[in-house]
Amino acid sequence: MINSEKQLQALIEAVSSSTKYRQVSPDLIRAVGQRELSIRPSWKAAVKATKNKLHQVAGAYQGTKIDYGQALTMLRETAASPAEFRESCRQIMRWHVSTRERLPILGDFFAETLLNVSPVRTVMDVACGLNPVAWPWMPFDDQVNYIAYDIYADTMRFVQDYMQVARINGRAQTRDVLQDPPNQPVDLAFILKTLPCLEQLDKMAATILLDAIQARYLLISYPVTSLGGRRKGMITNYDNHFRSLATDRSWSVKRFEFATELAYLVETGDEKVNNNIAQLDSLPSRNSGSRDG
Ligand SMILES: C[S@@+](CC[C@H](N)C(=O)[O-])C[C@H]1O[C@@H](n2cnc3c(N)ncnc32)[C@H](O)[C@@H]1O
Repeated sequence: MINSEKQLQALIEAVSSSTKYRQVSPDLIRAVGQRELSIRPSWKAAVKATKNKLHQVAGAYQGTKIDYGQALTMLRETAASPAEFRESCRQIMRWHVSTRERLPILGDFFAETLLNVSPVRTVMDVACGLNPVAWPWMPFDDQVNYIAYDIYADTMRFVQDYMQVARINGRAQTRDVLQDPPNQPVDLAFILKTLPCLEQLDKMAATILLDAIQARYLLISYPVTSLGGRRKGMITNYDNHFRSLATDRSWSVKRFEFATELAYLVETGDEKVNNNIAQLDSLPSRNSGSRDG
């Protein structure tokens, strides 16, 4: 029998010891590995398939190897000048494919999509990559509580440090949002270019996440080109994808088509959420790094 706990442990160790996946949440490696062990003909084939899957959903978006220490030094050295700090943020966002694609539209993206969204006291950034580094372009005041999740531990440590330098009242946590979907009530959840990616892990990913997330507003977006740069009907596909998600939900939706991203601002109309958000005020917040429920 291939799928024993011992073999799974050995697979997790083999995958985690490779430089490329060392920082990836072991919870995700375990989940992917378990599935691959149950369908592949050998342990070796399951290790290979696990790495391939992790590449598809995460590794492919990591640009060049990031020197987070150097990035932090650059941020600290430029923190006193808003213009220089923004330039540092731009440079850092080039290191993740998703934020790099957003750079040409950064001046409009958050300003336009969030124009009439208020009040925003809590923001959740789901599978965030380096998106929190776009903070200077987000129309929030410094009272906003920002919670960010991704599966890369080093990225999350960096985002936590970034929050401190940028004086964001926030937390960054390593979390597999499919196995442990975040459900604390927030005003706004960013689900940026993430659903198609998570659906490579689980076809039901979008439903799992959207059923768990409790937010007054969702900003859901999609890429308009493939990672290889081809457009190949992606806007039509993702318009259909979003429409199928919105079916049977009493959402009010605004659509935005930018040069590099298709976005939908959703007002969920969830009044329960509105009433519960105040409770977040009592959570440990400023850069605590603690885990929430
Ligand atoms: C296409 S990128 C989008 C990044 C970011 N939302 C943005 O738009 O700039 C997808 C992100 O999902 C993360 N990811 C993949 N699987 C995940 C999971 N199960 N839980 C949390 N994050 C995940 C990847 O590490 C990657 O940063």
